[in-house]
Parts: sequence; C-alpha cells; structure tokens
Amino acid sequence: MTVLRLYPPPQRKMPLHGLYLALRLHRRSQAGGLLIYANYIASLDGRISLPDAHGEQGVPATLANKRDWRLYQELAAQSDIMLTSARYFRQLARGKAQDLLPVGREKEYADLAAWRLDEGLQAQPDVAILSRSLDIPQAALEAVGDRKVLVLTGRDADVRDIERLTLPGVRVLQNEQFELDGAGIRSMLAAEGYRSAYMIAGPEVHRTLLCGGLDLLFLTQRHRLLGGNDFSSIMQGQLESSVDMELQSLYLDEQALLHERGGQCFACYAVMPGV
Ligand SMILES: NC(=O)c1ccc[n+]([C@@H]2O[C@H](COP(=O)([O-])OP(=O)(O)OC[C@H]3O[C@@H](n4cnc5c(N)ncnc54)[C@H](OP(=O)(O)O)[C@@H]3O)[C@@H](O)[C@H]2O)c1
Repeated sequence: MTVLRLYPPPQRKMPLHGLYLALRLHRRSQAGGLLIYANYIASLDGRISLPDAHGEQGVPATLANKRDWRLYQELAAQSDIMLTSARYFRQLARGKAQDLLPVGREKEYADLAAWRLDEGLQAQPDVAILSRSLDIPQAALEAVGDRKVLVLTGRDADVRDIERLTLPGVRVLQNEQFELDGAGIRSMLAAEGYRSAYMIAGPEVHRTLLCGGLDLLFLTQRHRLLGGNDFSSIMQGQLESSVDMELQSLYLDEQALLHERGGQCFACYAVMPGV
C-alpha cells in the first residue's frame, strides 16, 4: 500500500504504513512543552459531519475509509492524551458514536500497540474532555475507566457540577479565564506532564484551540462532493482574525485512486503564529 508524496519535493512513492508514525510527534515538543495536533477527514465540499438516516450527526459513511483510519490510528499511537468534546461523550452514552478513543485493539493495529510500549508510552493515551455544561454521562466515563480522564472547563463552572464529576480516575481542571482557551488548555496539560495531545473533536473545540493551543492540523481530503445543508466543517463560528497555515506535507493516496473512485489526499499544515 503506497502513497505518492507530492510535497515536499521530490515526488516519491512511500508506504502508507508508518507514514505518520515516522513523525515521532511524542518527541517533538521542547522540554516542558506540549505538541498539540488535530486530524479531520473532509469531503471536497468541506463536510466532516452530516446527519445519518436517524438524524444523528456523525462522520458520513461515504467519507470514512480504512486507509485514512490507519493514519488516524498512527496519530493516536503517538499521543499522551486525546482531546475530545463532552458532546461526543453524550453521543457515546446513547450508543450513537463510534468508539474513537482506544488505539485500535484490532489485529491490524497490534503493531501500534507494541510500538507505544517500545517507546515507553502507556498502553492507551489518557483522555481530556472539553465541556462548559459539565453534562457528561457517568456510563460514558466508565468506558474509559482504564486511564486518567481530565475534564477541562472554564473558571466559572458550577461547584456542584464539578463535585458530581469527581469520580475515581476523573479530575476537573478549571481554566484561569472564564472561558476555555487554547493557551489555557496548553498550559493545564503541560503542567500535568503531557508532551503530545491529539485533538479528535469537531469545529468548536478546533476554534477553541486555535488561539495558542494548536500546532499541527492533519487533513484528509476525500475527492468526493457530498452536499447537504445540515453539516459541520473543520471550523465554524467567529475567529478573532484569520489563521495562516503552512503546508508541511501532501500525499496523494494512489491506492484509493486504483480501487475506489476519486481518491484522497493527506495533508499536514503547521499553524502559523498570528502577526
Ligand atoms: N470527519 C472528521 O474527521 C470529524 C472529526 C471530529 C468530529 N467530527 C464530527 O463533527 C461533529 C461535531 O463534533 P463534536 O461534537 O466533537 O464537536 P465540537 O463542536 O468540537 O464540540 C462541541 C462540544 O465541546 C464542548 N466545547 C467546545 N468548545 C468548548 C469550550 N471553548 N469550552 C468548553 N467546552 C467546549 C462543548 O461541550 P458542552 O456542551 O458540554 O459544554 C460542546 O458541546 C460530530 O458529528 C463528529 O462526529 C468529524
């Protein structure tokens, strides 16, 4: 299974397996620092989420595919902690969300589980959940009871809600600011000793992180138009100012071109500091 590297030059065929693992994201932060990276798969018309036949928002089945999922897993394998949203946990509790959090326990990802142990990482990354409402069902939290869970929220969170969530293995961390912001999230997680954090939530968490809380964006763009009006894209809501991104790498997924119509590209961008 190969992909064609389009950037940086020269063009070169490379194996898909190991493509993102070679980045060694867990070793890239400066001493005491934290590397935060996000990952999306989007259609050519920018959809990351559409309602299914029951009206439940999720990654469209026409978008998801195994080659992208391999890279999703390679990114997860390099993380000390995965960042997600309370909304995802509410969906999970209703049995309406894909279980995204463990580094794949299937046979095809056994190499990644072994790789984590070789690299001195824990078997599974810890979990951080962003929430304002602190409405996070206990049943969903129990699903990740085998690791540390941090709930990140703003300074004005209700004390009773915090107490309700303080279960074994779960801690609520409050930002110094009223609202959660990227810089606050970075400093809370760095203070906990994390060196690599993988953000797998939707557009609101992405917007929250962009101010000082995101270093790299991995974006798979499937060469397919999906349409639909009730959708999420990788970014929604107001940004204080536009954010420039610098292309780090771009791969054409040739295997997808051979076996499926259209194909896809795998891109990685670095978030550039504001001017
Ligand atoms: N295609 C892809 O690659 C991809 C990737 C990720 C997600 N998705 C899809 O995108 C859709 C949306 O995902 P999502 O629900 O994770 O989206 P999201 O819009 O990023 O998360 C929303 C929730 O996160 C919490 N949150 C966000 N920003 C916050 C802040 N500044 N402070 C405190 N809490 C904050 C809030 O929780 P409370 O409501 O508890 O306050 C909010 O309800 C889903 O359908 C998902 O399947 C697709």
